[in-house]
Amino acid sequence: MQYAKLGIEALEALRAALDPDGLSVRHEDRVHYGHDETEDLNHPPDVVVRPRTTAQVAAVVRICAAHNIPVTPIGGRTGLSGGALSVYGGVGLALDRMNAIVDIDERNLQVTVEPGVITQVLQEAVAAKGLYYPPDPSSRGSCTIGGNLAENAGGPRAVKYGVTRDFVLDLEVVLPNGEVIRTGARTLKNSTGYDLTRLMVGSEGTLGIITQAVLRLVPHPRETRLMLVPFSEATKACEAVSAIFRAGITPSALEFMERDAIAWTMRFTEGLPAQLSTEPAAYLLVEVDGNEGEELMRSCEAILTVAEAHGAGEVLFAESSAEKDALWKMRRSVPVSVKAHSTYKEEDTVVPRFELPKLLQGVKEIGARYGFTSVCYGHAGDGNLHVNIIKGDLTDHFWEHELHHAIREIFALTVSLGGTISGEHGIGLVQRPYMDIAFNTAQLDLMRAIKQAFDPLGIMNPGKVLPDQS
Ligand code: LAC
Ligand code: ZN
Repeated sequence: MQYAKLGIEALEALRAALDPDGLSVRHEDRVHYGHDETEDLNHPPDVVVRPRTTAQVAAVVRICAAHNIPVTPIGGRTGLSGGALSVYGGVGLALDRMNAIVDIDERNLQVTVEPGVITQVLQEAVAAKGLYYPPDPSSRGSCTIGGNLAENAGGPRAVKYGVTRDFVLDLEVVLPNGEVIRTGARTLKNSTGYDLTRLMVGSEGTLGIITQAVLRLVPHPRETRLMLVPFSEATKACEAVSAIFRAGITPSALEFMERDAIAWTMRFTEGLPAQLSTEPAAYLLVEVDGNEGEELMRSCEAILTVAEAHGAGEVLFAESSAEKDALWKMRRSVPVSVKAHSTYKEEDTVVPRFELPKLLQGVKEIGARYGFTSVCYGHAGDGNLHVNIIKGDLTDHFWEHELHHAIREIFALTVSLGGTISGEHGIGLVQRPYMDIAFNTAQLDLMRAIKQAFDPLGIMNPGKVLPDQS
Protein backbone atom coordinates (compact mmCIF):
# COMPACT_ATOMS: atom_id res chain seq x y z
CA MET A 1 0.00 0.00 0.00
CA GLN A 2 1.19 3.51 -0.80
CA TYR A 3 0.05 6.13 1.66
CA ALA A 4 0.41 9.89 1.65
CA LYS A 5 2.70 11.60 4.14
CA LEU A 6 0.88 13.51 6.82
CA GLY A 7 0.96 17.05 5.41
CA ILE A 8 0.15 20.39 6.99
CA GLU A 9 -3.32 20.51 5.46
CA ALA A 10 -4.41 17.18 6.95
CA LEU A 11 -2.80 18.07 10.27
CA GLU A 12 -4.70 21.34 10.47
CA ALA A 13 -7.95 19.59 9.55
CA LEU A 14 -7.34 17.06 12.34
CA ARG A 15 -6.55 19.80 14.82
CA ALA A 16 -9.79 21.56 13.96
CA ALA A 17 -11.80 18.36 14.40
CA LEU A 18 -10.56 17.67 17.93
CA ASP A 19 -10.51 19.36 21.32
CA PRO A 20 -7.64 21.84 21.74
CA ASP A 21 -5.55 19.21 23.59
CA GLY A 22 -6.73 16.31 21.43
CA LEU A 23 -3.71 16.05 19.13
CA SER A 24 0.02 15.67 19.66
CA VAL A 25 3.06 15.38 17.44
CA ARG A 26 5.50 15.38 20.38
CA HIS A 27 8.14 12.68 20.14
CA GLU A 28 7.40 11.30 23.66
CA ASP A 29 3.70 10.93 22.90
CA ARG A 30 4.35 9.26 19.58
CA VAL A 31 6.73 6.77 21.20
CA HIS A 32 4.34 6.23 24.13
CA TYR A 33 1.50 5.36 21.77
CA GLY A 34 3.86 3.48 19.45
CA HIS A 35 4.23 0.34 21.54
CA ASP A 36 2.13 -2.32 23.19
CA GLU A 37 3.37 -5.39 25.10
CA THR A 38 4.53 -7.23 21.98
CA GLU A 39 8.23 -8.00 22.35
CA ASP A 40 10.16 -4.70 22.25
CA LEU A 41 8.49 -3.37 19.11
CA ASN A 42 7.87 0.34 18.64
CA HIS A 43 6.10 1.84 15.63
CA PRO A 44 5.16 5.42 16.48
CA PRO A 45 2.37 7.13 14.59
CA ASP A 46 3.20 10.51 12.99
CA VAL A 47 0.50 12.10 15.08
CA VAL A 48 -1.47 10.94 18.12
CA VAL A 49 -5.14 11.94 18.29
CA ARG A 50 -7.28 11.43 21.38
CA PRO A 51 -10.93 12.03 20.50
CA ARG A 52 -13.65 12.37 23.14
CA THR A 53 -16.72 11.58 21.05
CA THR A 54 -17.89 9.31 18.24
CA ALA A 55 -18.35 12.41 16.11
CA GLN A 56 -14.68 13.28 16.60
CA VAL A 57 -13.60 9.73 15.71
CA ALA A 58 -15.73 9.89 12.55
CA ALA A 59 -14.27 13.28 11.63
CA VAL A 60 -10.71 11.97 12.06
CA VAL A 61 -11.44 8.93 9.91
CA ARG A 62 -13.03 11.07 7.17
CA ILE A 63 -9.93 13.27 7.09
CA CYS A 64 -7.69 10.20 6.88
CA ALA A 65 -9.80 8.79 4.03
CA ALA A 66 -9.71 12.11 2.16
CA HIS A 67 -5.91 12.38 2.49
CA ASN A 68 -5.03 8.66 2.12
CA ILE A 69 -3.45 8.48 5.56
CA PRO A 70 -3.45 5.25 7.58
CA VAL A 71 -5.20 5.25 10.94
CA THR A 72 -4.43 2.81 13.75
CA PRO A 73 -6.85 2.46 16.68
CA ILE A 74 -5.05 2.22 20.04
CA GLY A 75 -6.47 0.82 23.30
CA GLY A 76 -4.62 0.02 26.53
CA ARG A 77 -1.47 -1.09 24.62
CA THR A 78 -1.27 -4.41 26.42
CA GLY A 79 -1.66 -6.46 23.24
CA LEU A 80 0.67 -9.35 22.48
CA SER A 81 0.40 -9.52 18.70
CA GLY A 82 1.14 -5.90 17.80
CA GLY A 83 -2.39 -4.98 16.70
CA ALA A 84 -2.10 -1.39 17.99
CA LEU A 85 1.25 -0.56 16.39
CA SER A 86 1.23 2.19 13.74
CA VAL A 87 3.42 0.25 11.31
CA TYR A 88 2.76 2.71 8.48
CA GLY A 89 2.96 5.80 10.70
CA GLY A 90 0.02 8.09 10.02
CA VAL A 91 -2.62 8.70 12.67
CA GLY A 92 -2.55 6.82 15.97
CA LEU A 93 -6.11 7.07 17.25
CA ALA A 94 -6.04 6.51 21.01
CA LEU A 95 -9.42 5.79 22.59
CA ASP A 96 -8.32 6.37 26.18
CA ARG A 97 -10.44 9.50 26.59
CA MET A 98 -13.63 7.72 25.59
CA ASN A 99 -13.81 5.86 28.87
CA ALA A 100 -17.36 6.32 30.16
CA ILE A 101 -19.54 3.56 31.51
CA VAL A 102 -22.63 4.98 29.83
CA ASP A 103 -25.31 2.87 31.50
CA ILE A 104 -25.64 -0.22 33.68
CA ASP A 105 -29.05 -1.68 32.87
CA GLU A 106 -29.87 -3.80 35.93
CA ARG A 107 -33.29 -4.76 34.56
CA ASN A 108 -31.81 -6.45 31.50
CA LEU A 109 -28.35 -7.35 32.85
CA GLN A 110 -26.56 -5.26 30.27
CA VAL A 111 -23.96 -2.52 30.29
CA THR A 112 -23.20 0.13 27.68
CA VAL A 113 -19.58 1.28 27.59
CA GLU A 114 -17.18 3.38 25.62
CA PRO A 115 -14.10 1.56 24.33
CA GLY A 116 -11.57 3.23 26.63
CA VAL A 117 -13.02 1.77 29.84
CA ILE A 118 -10.41 -0.27 31.70
CA THR A 119 -11.67 -3.85 31.97
CA GLN A 120 -11.18 -4.05 35.74
CA VAL A 121 -13.01 -0.74 36.22
CA LEU A 122 -15.98 -2.20 34.37
CA GLN A 123 -15.82 -5.44 36.36
CA GLU A 124 -15.82 -3.55 39.65
CA ALA A 125 -18.59 -1.16 38.64
CA VAL A 126 -20.95 -4.00 37.73
CA ALA A 127 -19.87 -6.12 40.73
CA ALA A 128 -21.03 -3.27 42.99
CA LYS A 129 -24.51 -4.00 41.61
CA GLY A 130 -24.22 -7.76 42.04
CA LEU A 131 -23.40 -8.35 38.38
CA TYR A 132 -20.51 -10.12 36.71
CA TYR A 133 -18.54 -9.40 33.54
CA PRO A 134 -16.39 -12.55 33.33
CA PRO A 135 -13.82 -11.90 30.52
CA ASP A 136 -10.72 -11.38 32.54
CA PRO A 137 -7.36 -10.94 30.78
CA SER A 138 -4.26 -10.90 33.01
CA SER A 139 -3.80 -7.25 32.03
CA ARG A 140 -7.30 -6.33 33.26
CA GLY A 141 -5.91 -3.45 35.34
CA SER A 142 -4.69 -1.62 32.22
CA CYS A 143 -6.29 -3.21 29.15
CA THR A 144 -9.46 -1.65 27.78
CA ILE A 145 -12.78 -3.02 26.60
CA GLY A 146 -12.08 -1.64 23.13
CA GLY A 147 -8.83 -3.58 22.92
CA ASN A 148 -10.52 -6.68 24.36
CA LEU A 149 -13.18 -6.40 21.64
CA ALA A 150 -10.62 -5.81 18.91
CA GLU A 151 -8.60 -8.90 19.86
CA ASN A 152 -11.48 -11.02 21.19
CA ALA A 153 -9.63 -11.37 24.49
CA GLY A 154 -10.28 -14.36 26.73
CA GLY A 155 -8.59 -15.02 30.05
CA PRO A 156 -9.19 -17.61 32.77
CA ARG A 157 -12.99 -17.37 33.08
CA ALA A 158 -13.62 -18.10 29.39
CA VAL A 159 -13.62 -21.80 30.19
CA LYS A 160 -17.00 -21.51 31.90
CA TYR A 161 -18.43 -18.23 30.62
CA GLY A 162 -16.98 -17.64 27.15
CA VAL A 163 -14.68 -15.04 25.61
CA THR A 164 -15.29 -11.34 24.94
CA ARG A 165 -17.21 -12.10 21.76
CA ASP A 166 -19.78 -14.12 23.70
CA PHE A 167 -20.75 -11.04 25.75
CA VAL A 168 -21.34 -8.56 22.94
CA LEU A 169 -24.88 -7.70 21.90
CA ASP A 170 -24.43 -4.52 19.91
CA LEU A 171 -21.65 -2.22 18.77
CA GLU A 172 -21.39 1.29 17.46
CA VAL A 173 -18.70 1.37 14.79
CA VAL A 174 -17.08 4.13 12.77
CA LEU A 175 -16.47 2.63 9.35
CA PRO A 176 -13.33 3.41 7.32
CA ASN A 177 -15.28 6.01 5.30
CA GLY A 178 -16.37 7.84 8.47
CA GLU A 179 -19.95 6.54 8.49
CA VAL A 180 -21.32 5.42 11.86
CA ILE A 181 -23.31 2.18 12.10
CA ARG A 182 -24.72 -0.10 14.78
CA THR A 183 -24.18 -3.82 14.29
CA GLY A 184 -26.73 -5.64 16.47
CA ALA A 185 -29.53 -5.11 18.99
CA ARG A 186 -30.00 -5.11 22.75
CA THR A 187 -31.36 -8.63 22.66
CA LEU A 188 -29.99 -11.97 23.75
CA LYS A 189 -31.24 -13.55 20.53
CA ASN A 190 -30.69 -12.16 17.08
CA SER A 191 -31.11 -14.06 13.81
CA THR A 192 -31.40 -10.94 11.71
CA GLY A 193 -29.06 -10.96 8.75
CA TYR A 194 -25.30 -11.45 8.73
CA ASP A 195 -23.75 -11.11 12.17
CA LEU A 196 -21.69 -7.93 11.84
CA THR A 197 -21.23 -7.83 15.61
CA ARG A 198 -19.31 -11.09 15.71
CA LEU A 199 -17.36 -10.08 12.60
CA MET A 200 -16.23 -6.81 14.17
CA VAL A 201 -15.11 -8.51 17.41
CA GLY A 202 -11.65 -9.91 16.81
CA SER A 203 -11.14 -7.90 13.60
CA GLU A 204 -8.29 -6.06 15.31
CA GLY A 205 -9.28 -2.58 14.19
CA THR A 206 -8.94 -3.45 10.50
CA LEU A 207 -12.63 -3.04 9.59
CA GLY A 208 -13.60 -0.01 11.66
CA ILE A 209 -13.33 1.61 15.06
CA ILE A 210 -15.63 0.48 17.86
CA THR A 211 -16.89 3.57 19.68
CA GLN A 212 -19.53 2.00 21.93
CA ALA A 213 -20.48 -1.52 23.03
CA VAL A 214 -23.51 -3.07 24.68
CA LEU A 215 -22.37 -6.05 26.71
CA ARG A 216 -24.28 -8.82 28.40
CA LEU A 217 -23.75 -9.45 32.12
CA VAL A 218 -24.56 -12.39 34.39
CA PRO A 219 -25.44 -12.46 38.10
CA HIS A 220 -22.29 -12.41 40.22
CA PRO A 221 -21.64 -15.86 41.71
CA ARG A 222 -21.71 -15.64 45.52
CA GLU A 223 -18.96 -18.12 46.26
CA THR A 224 -15.71 -19.34 44.81
CA ARG A 225 -13.27 -22.07 45.83
CA LEU A 226 -9.71 -21.97 44.57
CA MET A 227 -7.01 -24.58 44.77
CA LEU A 228 -3.52 -25.06 43.46
CA VAL A 229 -2.70 -28.61 42.47
CA PRO A 230 0.94 -29.69 41.95
CA PHE A 231 2.05 -32.39 39.51
CA SER A 232 5.47 -33.98 39.21
CA GLU A 233 4.87 -34.48 35.48
CA ALA A 234 3.58 -31.62 33.33
CA THR A 235 1.94 -33.96 30.81
CA LYS A 236 -0.02 -35.61 33.61
CA ALA A 237 -1.35 -32.20 34.66
CA CYS A 238 -2.50 -31.66 31.07
CA GLU A 239 -4.12 -35.10 30.98
CA ALA A 240 -6.07 -34.31 34.15
CA VAL A 241 -7.65 -31.27 32.47
CA SER A 242 -10.04 -33.00 30.09
CA ALA A 243 -10.71 -35.72 32.69
CA ILE A 244 -12.10 -33.04 35.07
CA PHE A 245 -14.75 -32.04 32.53
CA ARG A 246 -15.51 -35.66 31.74
CA ALA A 247 -16.17 -36.14 35.46
CA GLY A 248 -19.02 -33.67 35.06
CA ILE A 249 -17.42 -30.52 36.47
CA THR A 250 -17.05 -27.18 34.66
CA PRO A 251 -14.55 -25.13 36.65
CA SER A 252 -14.75 -21.33 36.40
CA ALA A 253 -11.00 -21.35 35.77
CA LEU A 254 -8.55 -24.14 34.99
CA GLU A 255 -5.08 -22.74 34.48
CA PHE A 256 -1.80 -24.54 33.80
CA MET A 257 1.65 -23.25 34.76
CA GLU A 258 4.99 -24.92 34.22
CA ARG A 259 7.67 -24.80 36.89
CA ASP A 260 9.71 -21.98 35.35
CA ALA A 261 6.63 -19.78 35.09
CA ILE A 262 6.21 -20.14 38.85
CA ALA A 263 9.92 -19.74 39.59
CA TRP A 264 10.25 -16.52 37.56
CA THR A 265 7.07 -15.10 38.99
CA MET A 266 8.49 -15.66 42.50
CA ARG A 267 11.68 -13.93 41.43
CA PHE A 268 10.28 -10.96 39.53
CA THR A 269 7.00 -10.10 41.24
CA GLU A 270 6.95 -7.84 44.28
CA GLY A 271 4.56 -8.41 47.14
CA LEU A 272 3.63 -12.05 46.61
CA PRO A 273 2.63 -13.18 50.10
CA ALA A 274 2.96 -16.88 49.39
CA GLN A 275 6.16 -18.57 48.25
CA LEU A 276 5.42 -21.74 46.33
CA SER A 277 7.61 -24.74 45.92
CA THR A 278 9.20 -24.96 42.51
CA GLU A 279 9.75 -28.68 42.92
CA PRO A 280 6.60 -29.78 41.02
CA ALA A 281 7.01 -29.76 37.25
CA ALA A 282 3.67 -27.99 36.84
CA TYR A 283 0.61 -26.73 38.67
CA LEU A 284 -3.06 -26.50 37.86
CA LEU A 285 -4.89 -23.54 39.39
CA VAL A 286 -8.53 -24.57 39.61
CA GLU A 287 -11.47 -22.36 40.57
CA VAL A 288 -15.12 -23.30 40.88
CA ASP A 289 -17.88 -20.77 41.43
CA GLY A 290 -21.57 -20.76 42.26
CA ASN A 291 -24.01 -19.86 45.00
CA GLU A 292 -23.84 -22.90 47.28
CA GLY A 293 -20.66 -23.48 49.27
CA GLU A 294 -21.37 -27.16 49.91
CA GLU A 295 -21.94 -27.89 46.27
CA LEU A 296 -18.64 -26.19 45.45
CA MET A 297 -16.86 -28.36 48.01
CA ARG A 298 -18.33 -31.45 46.34
CA SER A 299 -17.01 -30.17 42.99
CA CYS A 300 -13.58 -29.66 44.56
CA GLU A 301 -13.59 -33.21 45.90
CA ALA A 302 -14.53 -34.58 42.48
CA ILE A 303 -11.71 -32.54 40.90
CA LEU A 304 -9.23 -33.81 43.47
CA THR A 305 -10.22 -37.42 42.84
CA VAL A 306 -9.41 -36.90 39.16
CA ALA A 307 -6.20 -35.02 39.95
CA GLU A 308 -4.99 -37.75 42.32
CA ALA A 309 -5.65 -40.37 39.68
CA HIS A 310 -3.21 -38.35 37.52
CA GLY A 311 -0.52 -38.30 40.19
CA ALA A 312 -1.23 -34.92 41.84
CA GLY A 313 0.70 -33.97 44.97
CA GLU A 314 -0.54 -32.15 48.05
CA VAL A 315 -3.13 -29.53 47.21
CA LEU A 316 -3.08 -25.95 48.46
CA PHE A 317 -6.59 -24.65 49.23
CA ALA A 318 -6.97 -20.88 49.37
CA GLU A 319 -8.77 -20.45 52.70
CA SER A 320 -9.41 -16.70 52.70
CA SER A 321 -10.10 -14.10 50.06
CA ALA A 322 -6.58 -12.76 50.71
CA GLU A 323 -5.14 -16.16 49.82
CA LYS A 324 -7.29 -16.33 46.71
CA ASP A 325 -6.12 -12.86 45.68
CA ALA A 326 -2.50 -13.88 46.24
CA LEU A 327 -2.81 -16.93 43.99
CA TRP A 328 -4.54 -14.92 41.27
CA LYS A 329 -1.95 -12.18 41.56
CA MET A 330 0.72 -14.79 41.02
CA ARG A 331 -1.04 -16.20 37.98
CA ARG A 332 -1.64 -12.75 36.46
CA SER A 333 2.02 -11.87 37.00
CA VAL A 334 3.32 -14.77 34.92
CA PRO A 335 3.42 -12.93 31.56
CA VAL A 336 5.27 -9.88 32.90
CA SER A 337 7.65 -12.13 34.84
CA VAL A 338 8.52 -14.14 31.74
CA LYS A 339 9.19 -10.84 29.99
CA ALA A 340 11.38 -9.67 32.86
CA HIS A 341 13.41 -12.89 32.74
CA SER A 342 14.46 -12.90 29.10
CA THR A 343 13.71 -11.76 25.59
CA TYR A 344 11.04 -14.16 24.41
CA LYS A 345 8.42 -14.82 21.78
CA GLU A 346 4.94 -15.83 22.79
CA GLU A 347 2.78 -18.15 20.75
CA ASP A 348 -0.91 -18.35 21.66
CA THR A 349 -1.62 -21.93 20.61
CA VAL A 350 -5.02 -23.52 21.11
CA VAL A 351 -6.21 -27.10 20.56
CA PRO A 352 -9.25 -29.12 21.54
CA ARG A 353 -8.74 -29.64 25.26
CA PHE A 354 -8.10 -33.42 25.08
CA GLU A 355 -5.14 -32.79 22.76
CA LEU A 356 -3.35 -30.55 25.25
CA PRO A 357 -0.84 -33.22 26.41
CA LYS A 358 0.14 -33.91 22.79
CA LEU A 359 0.59 -30.19 22.15
CA LEU A 360 2.83 -29.74 25.20
CA GLN A 361 4.94 -32.79 24.37
CA GLY A 362 5.20 -31.73 20.73
CA VAL A 363 6.35 -28.21 21.67
CA LYS A 364 9.07 -29.67 23.90
CA GLU A 365 10.16 -32.08 21.18
CA ILE A 366 10.40 -29.23 18.62
CA GLY A 367 12.34 -27.18 21.19
CA ALA A 368 14.80 -30.05 21.73
CA ARG A 369 15.35 -30.37 17.99
CA TYR A 370 15.95 -26.65 17.42
CA GLY A 371 17.80 -26.13 20.70
CA PHE A 372 15.48 -23.71 22.51
CA THR A 373 13.75 -23.89 25.85
CA SER A 374 10.15 -22.85 26.33
CA VAL A 375 7.96 -22.12 29.28
CA CYS A 376 4.32 -22.90 28.83
CA TYR A 377 1.32 -21.71 30.77
CA GLY A 378 -2.24 -20.77 30.03
CA HIS A 379 -5.88 -21.58 29.98
CA ALA A 380 -5.70 -25.36 30.00
CA GLY A 381 -9.44 -25.78 30.31
CA ASP A 382 -9.75 -24.08 26.90
CA GLY A 383 -6.83 -26.05 25.42
CA ASN A 384 -5.15 -22.62 25.14
CA LEU A 385 -1.42 -22.90 25.82
CA HIS A 386 0.80 -19.80 25.81
CA VAL A 387 4.13 -21.11 24.53
CA ASN A 388 6.92 -18.73 25.52
CA ILE A 389 10.11 -19.38 23.59
CA ILE A 390 13.03 -18.10 25.63
CA LYS A 391 15.93 -16.37 23.91
CA GLY A 392 18.41 -17.12 26.69
CA ASP A 393 21.80 -17.85 25.08
CA LEU A 394 20.50 -18.30 21.56
CA THR A 395 22.30 -16.27 18.93
CA ASP A 396 20.68 -13.23 17.33
CA HIS A 397 21.09 -14.98 13.99
CA PHE A 398 19.06 -17.98 15.16
CA TRP A 399 16.46 -15.72 16.76
CA GLU A 400 15.98 -13.55 13.68
CA HIS A 401 16.46 -16.04 10.86
CA GLU A 402 15.87 -19.62 12.01
CA LEU A 403 13.38 -19.59 14.85
CA HIS A 404 10.48 -18.96 12.49
CA HIS A 405 10.93 -22.50 11.09
CA ALA A 406 10.37 -23.86 14.58
CA ILE A 407 7.35 -21.60 15.09
CA ARG A 408 5.90 -22.90 11.85
CA GLU A 409 6.32 -26.44 13.16
CA ILE A 410 4.58 -25.54 16.41
CA PHE A 411 1.65 -24.02 14.52
CA ALA A 412 1.50 -26.93 12.07
CA LEU A 413 1.29 -29.28 15.03
CA THR A 414 -1.42 -27.13 16.59
CA VAL A 415 -3.49 -27.20 13.42
CA SER A 416 -2.92 -30.94 12.92
CA LEU A 417 -4.39 -31.51 16.38
CA GLY A 418 -7.56 -29.67 15.33
CA GLY A 419 -6.52 -26.34 16.79
CA THR A 420 -5.48 -22.97 15.48
CA ILE A 421 -2.72 -20.40 15.80
CA SER A 422 -4.25 -17.86 18.18
CA GLY A 423 -6.75 -18.49 20.93
CA GLU A 424 -7.00 -14.98 22.36
CA HIS A 425 -4.05 -12.73 21.49
CA GLY A 426 -4.92 -12.18 17.84
CA ILE A 427 -2.81 -12.20 14.68
CA GLY A 428 -1.98 -8.50 14.61
CA LEU A 429 1.43 -7.82 13.15
CA VAL A 430 3.60 -10.65 14.39
CA GLN A 431 1.55 -13.74 13.49
CA ARG A 432 0.61 -12.66 9.96
CA PRO A 433 3.35 -14.70 8.28
CA TYR A 434 1.79 -17.87 9.73
CA MET A 435 -1.80 -17.34 8.56
CA ASP A 436 -1.28 -19.75 5.65
CA ILE A 437 -0.89 -22.55 8.20
CA ALA A 438 -4.40 -21.94 9.52
CA PHE A 439 -6.13 -20.97 6.26
CA ASN A 440 -5.97 -21.93 2.58
CA THR A 441 -6.15 -19.52 -0.36
CA ALA A 442 -9.95 -19.72 -0.61
CA GLN A 443 -10.34 -18.74 3.02
CA LEU A 444 -7.76 -15.94 2.85
CA ASP A 445 -9.34 -14.58 -0.35
CA LEU A 446 -12.70 -14.43 1.39
CA MET A 447 -11.14 -12.50 4.26
CA ARG A 448 -9.47 -10.12 1.80
CA ALA A 449 -12.83 -9.55 0.12
CA ILE A 450 -14.37 -8.67 3.50
CA LYS A 451 -11.54 -6.23 4.18
CA GLN A 452 -12.03 -4.71 0.73
CA ALA A 453 -15.78 -4.30 1.28
CA PHE A 454 -15.25 -2.44 4.54
CA ASP A 455 -12.08 -0.57 3.70
CA PRO A 456 -11.52 -0.18 -0.06
CA LEU A 457 -8.82 2.45 0.53
CA GLY A 458 -6.94 0.19 2.94
CA ILE A 459 -6.41 2.95 5.50
CA MET A 460 -7.78 1.16 8.58
CA ASN A 461 -4.99 -0.41 10.65
CA PRO A 462 -2.97 -1.54 7.64
CA GLY A 463 -0.35 -4.25 7.97
CA LYS A 464 -2.40 -6.38 10.35
CA VAL A 465 -4.13 -9.76 10.31
CA LEU A 466 -3.95 -10.60 6.59
CA PRO A 467 -0.58 -11.77 5.26
CA ASP A 468 1.16 -10.04 2.37
CA GLN A 469 0.15 -11.49 -0.95
CA SER A 470 2.95 -13.34 -2.63
C1 LAC B 1 -2.23 -14.60 30.14
C2 LAC B 1 -2.15 -13.67 28.99
C3 LAC B 1 -0.76 -13.51 28.51
O1 LAC B 1 -2.85 -15.64 30.01
O2 LAC B 1 -2.98 -14.07 27.96
O3 LAC B 1 -1.66 -14.29 31.19
ZN1 ZN C 1 -3.95 -15.84 28.35
